[in-house]
Amino acid sequence: MSVPFHLAAALDAGLKQAAAAAGFDAARFAPEVRVAAPQHGDFQANGVLAYAKQTKQNPRAAAQALVAALPPEVVALAEVEIAGPGFLNFTLRPAALEAWLAAIGSPSTLAAAAGQALAGQTWVVDYSSPNTAKQMHVGHLRSAVIGEAVARIAAFAGARVIRDNHIGDWGTSFGKIIWAYKQALAADRAALETALAEAPLEEFERLYKVGNSTADADPAVLDASRAELVKLQTGDAENTAIWRRIGEVSVAAFQKIYDLLGIRFDHTLGESFYNDKVASVYAGLVACGVAEESQGALVVFHDENPRYSRHAERPNPFIVRKADGAANYASTDLATILYRAEHFHADAALYVVDKRQGDHFEQLFLTAEKWFARTGRPLLRLEHLGFGTVLGEDGRPLKTRNGENIKLKDLLAEAVERARRLVDEKSGELPAEERARIAEIVGIGSVQYADLSQNRSSDYTFAWDKMISLEGNTAAYLLYAVARIHSIFRKLGVTPGDSAAEAGASPLETPTELALARKLVQFADAQAQCTGTLRPHVLCLYLYELAGAFSAFYTVEKVAVEDPAVRARRLRLCARTVLLLETALGLLGLRTLVRM
Ligand code: ARG
Repeated sequence: MSVPFHLAAALDAGLKQAAAAAGFDAARFAPEVRVAAPQHGDFQANGVLAYAKQTKQNPRAAAQALVAALPPEVVALAEVEIAGPGFLNFTLRPAALEAWLAAIGSPSTLAAAAGQALAGQTWVVDYSSPNTAKQMHVGHLRSAVIGEAVARIAAFAGARVIRDNHIGDWGTSFGKIIWAYKQALAADRAALETALAEAPLEEFERLYKVGNSTADADPAVLDASRAELVKLQTGDAENTAIWRRIGEVSVAAFQKIYDLLGIRFDHTLGESFYNDKVASVYAGLVACGVAEESQGALVVFHDENPRYSRHAERPNPFIVRKADGAANYASTDLATILYRAEHFHADAALYVVDKRQGDHFEQLFLTAEKWFARTGRPLLRLEHLGFGTVLGEDGRPLKTRNGENIKLKDLLAEAVERARRLVDEKSGELPAEERARIAEIVGIGSVQYADLSQNRSSDYTFAWDKMISLEGNTAAYLLYAVARIHSIFRKLGVTPGDSAAEAGASPLETPTELALARKLVQFADAQAQCTGTLRPHVLCLYLYELAGAFSAFYTVEKVAVEDPAVRARRLRLCARTVLLLETALGLLGLRTLVRM
């Protein structure tokens, strides 16, 4: 028997086919097949009731007509039962469960089955995107972690994904840094070079602070740093070289953090990259009547939206060019959209950015929509994947004790250190080197997972003890489940997924075997929902349930039994569980372990 990977979608298609055969009005019938609560079978379809109401039919009779018209492929997959006033409950037949498990024997068959929904699409994921000349701090954690997960999830669903780090590498701050840099150079060249050799980003960050506070206090310095900025903007060689160096040391420091988080960008096209592209954006926006001059600036009103309308009590237009003629965040973001559409042929651009930038993206997208429509360009999907703030246990944005931003580098180092304590305590018998490696994977994974397992729109509380723990929906719990399954295979001298070990498997029989198999096939639903909503917590919730189903199975059933047919079917369950756990953890950006 061959079964579709996404069973709910197949049931949905079957229902629509049945509806047509039974003479339903397709426009009014919108069945919704969803994973059901266990007592209602595997999937439940809603929509019959609403349809019956609309068409003034008896709901049960409508449901019966539908069931009678179900195509034979659907009947082969599941038993159907009419529940209550017209819900349809589907219970997958054990043969269908087995066929599903048999079909995804390896990472590559799984990937092929899962990589359909977005096949042929090009998606740009814009994430991390910190500003240069500053170290990344805890406020940069979520974009990096969520963005990487979203990129992997989209790629797994078949998209060609372009990871773009839209760094903030342009703007007034560079005039101040260059000013301070030149002062330091004149005062003590050797000392400056030593500091830059030792900790270059820290030194540039310090120079920025010096430049900023001196310029604040002294108008002459402010003027001098503005002059440095103008020189930079007009291509002065010395200032360009300093600016370039700032960019390089910043990106090198960022990459150390990205390495820990498993991130590799395809492009780092910062704001400066769009510098020479904004002028034509202004011209285009004016020519098509989207933008207009207002008090010297170039602005866009969105009159249909009371918040951005020219008629608002306090008009708050989208400023796309400042009154002094300079480009801003909006100008470069508009040029970026055009570049992504024309150069990358992107079907979508996703912005993984703090939700407090919601107004910016709302106005940006409204502007792009009108601009593209009026210039006859097909609009790509533009979506702001906003996220909430990382809070401390006091409910306030997470800071150090003296109220400073926590450096991401320090936070990740602390995670590894804390994980090391857990590993030393639980697995003291392993060699020190291996414990160090485990600690890194568990520590970093715990931080990633704690972030991803929350709905990204909400704020979340950063609590070390909860996140680095073997209990609850945590990375350590799931990584441990993976390692435990590997140890089952190790003891038997079998490789997970080896088809010889699964040959001759007898049909699934016991309640926990069946329950685990049912949870395994729901992977496709979790994946589809996660891809649809771009909310990684959906996958986390699924993983937790899967690990729970495995644990329930393994508590009552022995895998290494004498009977080869029983052993083969249980080994298959173990192999699929570990395949899905590893795959999904990988989609979230975590590394996994075979021993822990
Ligand atoms: N550099 C910006 C910041 O630190 C984030 C950029 C996000 N991406 C974008 N295309 N606007 O807030």
